[in-house]
Amino acid sequence: MERTEIIRWLRERNPGRLAELWAAADRVRHDHVGDQIYLRGLVEVSSYCRRNCAYCGIRAGNFRVERFRLTADEVLDCAARVADFGCGTVVLQGGEDPKLTVDLVASLVRRIKTEFGLAVTLSFGERPLADFHVLRAAGADRYLLRFETSNPEVYARLHPPHIAGELPRRELLRELHAAGFEVGSGSMIGLPGTSYDDVANDLLDFRELDLDMIGVGPYIPHPETPLGSHPRPLPPNEQVPNDWLTTCTVVALTRLFCPATNIPATTALATLRPDGRELGFRCGANVWMPNFTPPRYRASYEIYPGKAAPTHAELRLHDISEILARLGRTLGRGPGPSPHYLTRSVTANTRASCSECPTSSVATPSIS
Ligand code: 5AD
Repeated sequence: MERTEIIRWLRERNPGRLAELWAAADRVRHDHVGDQIYLRGLVEVSSYCRRNCAYCGIRAGNFRVERFRLTADEVLDCAARVADFGCGTVVLQGGEDPKLTVDLVASLVRRIKTEFGLAVTLSFGERPLADFHVLRAAGADRYLLRFETSNPEVYARLHPPHIAGELPRRELLRELHAAGFEVGSGSMIGLPGTSYDDVANDLLDFRELDLDMIGVGPYIPHPETPLGSHPRPLPPNEQVPNDWLTTCTVVALTRLFCPATNIPATTALATLRPDGRELGFRCGANVWMPNFTPPRYRASYEIYPGKAAPTHAELRLHDISEILARLGRTLGRGPGPSPHYLTRSVTANTRASCSECPTSSVATPSIS
């Protein structure tokens, strides 16, 4: 698909026309990753963060948010609940908290792997390169680090200057690959200052970065952040909206561009609409990340407003199975790595490209 066609799809507002694109993505999802939906149990380990990302509610400069850090025992209790629930993977996520030392995280990974046999995904932001090797050696399977936007000016505006000696996120993603991780990234849709061209670049970058997992969600303004209070959007016809329709289109295009990857139906999309999760699954997503953070801490991990709404909490397997049945999908068992990763890792460490993912043309319904 040409860039102009991507942009035309991103600008399309007619749900009838978009339904064709979403259906095409759904077919590609069926053919490449099947009908299973895999559950990843999310545990938010710490809301402390040394960074000041302009959009994020747990940025260091937000003094109105209460901070928490789970103890090792609390993390292990959560992992036990994740395993009991039937998830094959636990995702440990947190801010860039200096007290979550690499040794502490590595020991949690080792204990979770031995005690519960879960796949472990980590999402603790940017860390020194050496840490990634320690964590991989401890048994961590996957790492999530979104690049947020492909627009370098917007990226620089939203992320205060880098700490000397540390690599930028995009380079870290390549290093994560080299360390043997299954690598996840993604972007926020509708960040003020981003154009349709930028989102087209996000999509091209997903493929170029050879990602295994891709998370895209709408940007949701947080009032206690600089971006929430001073958004500086582009003029209306140039600014990409942060709405559910555009997000679903990006999810669908992501599936078409990167057919064999794992794509979550994000909580941010579910925050915009009560049926947001289902919409995500209908237009290309195949992963669900239910939240297992102890309820008393959830409100403090408010990276955007509404995230901790009770509708996302306390889901029972029964409720999830019902939603899956309605969608004609089944529950994935086991760790559920992305087929993209499995193909890539056949020739270990050589970064062979995935034979399932197109390198140039992408067949889609024509918009013209
Ligand atoms: N709206 C939507 N998503 C957000 N994130 C952080 N802040 C917001 C926000 N205000 C996303 C970022 C980050 C992930 C953990 O949460 O993409 O990488």
